[in-house]
Amino acid sequence: MALPVVDTEYLKEIDKARRDLRALIASRNCAPIMLRLAWHDAGTYDAKTKTGGPNGSIRNEEEYSHGSNNGLKKAIDFCEEVKSRHPKITYADLYQLAGVVAVEVTGGPTVNFVPGRKDSKISPKEGRLPDAKQGSPHLRDIFYRMGLSDKDIVALSGGHTLGRAHPERSGFDGPWTEEPLKFDNSYFVELLKAESEGLLKLPTDKALLDDPGFCSYVELYAKDEDAFFKDYAESHKKLSELGFAPSSSGSKGVNDSVILAQGAVGVAVAAAVVILGYLYEVRKRIL
Ligand code: HEM
Repeated sequence: MALPVVDTEYLKEIDKARRDLRALIASRNCAPIMLRLAWHDAGTYDAKTKTGGPNGSIRNEEEYSHGSNNGLKKAIDFCEEVKSRHPKITYADLYQLAGVVAVEVTGGPTVNFVPGRKDSKISPKEGRLPDAKQGSPHLRDIFYRMGLSDKDIVALSGGHTLGRAHPERSGFDGPWTEEPLKFDNSYFVELLKAESEGLLKLPTDKALLDDPGFCSYVELYAKDEDAFFKDYAESHKKLSELGFAPSSSGSKGVNDSVILAQGAVGVAVAAAVVILGYLYEVRKRIL
């Protein structure tokens, strides 16, 4: 499918879609599932074959019917409401924008969003997303395949500060934190406690504690929310841009030319003010 042309018109639509997503997420309380949709679309990326990734392919029945995507059709349908109002925007951009907005409206960090992702109709085979019943070697297999690091694994796992598990979707039950609609560092605070009454810890969550390569980040993020927010914003941006090179796509060029055009207008206005001031002074002297 074609690369979207990221011109001023497209950027305007992105802004409008962002506003629509804010309203939709607030009215349906659906930030967690929107974040999960963005992650599951992006998290299929394979850096070696350059397949999968944030390309909107999760909208294909073949892919949203994968066991790991149980329940996500609901989020796909929510996004369709926004897509119908902004048909220019690719699904790939829309799902990633939804993830960024979900984090923002629940009090999390601002994740820089660059549009221009291409849609794909090709879905990867089932099995590219992590299996919650496994441990750290599996987490590394999955995230290293995407080209992500140990720090990314821990920071992104902090996404479980939002939402809950549903027995009918994953077989697991319950939220990770006391306030599952608030994006903060409480996932890490709870993880460090031996037992948290009524709260969930997946085997993959516990694996972050047992592995020395991961545990130092858990400890850091539990005591320093700013450090978590900074790393999370970076890792989320990386996740949302897997296989997508904004700088080499049309989007960068257009963004640059918009900035250049705005700069040129600024310079022209300043020059006009100086010239008018000068003419005014000259006129005053003549009269
Ligand atoms: C590290 C490997 C990961 C595993 C094994 C994993 C597994 C799971 C499972 C089993 C659920 C419960 C689904 C349900 O029953 O509804 C879930 C939910 C969720 N996951 Fe993850 N996840 C992982 C990473 C991530 C990442 C990287 C993010 C985002 C940055 C994320 C965001 C979420 C959110 C927001 C929910 C709650 C969804 C809802 O409330 O409907 N997860 N995850």
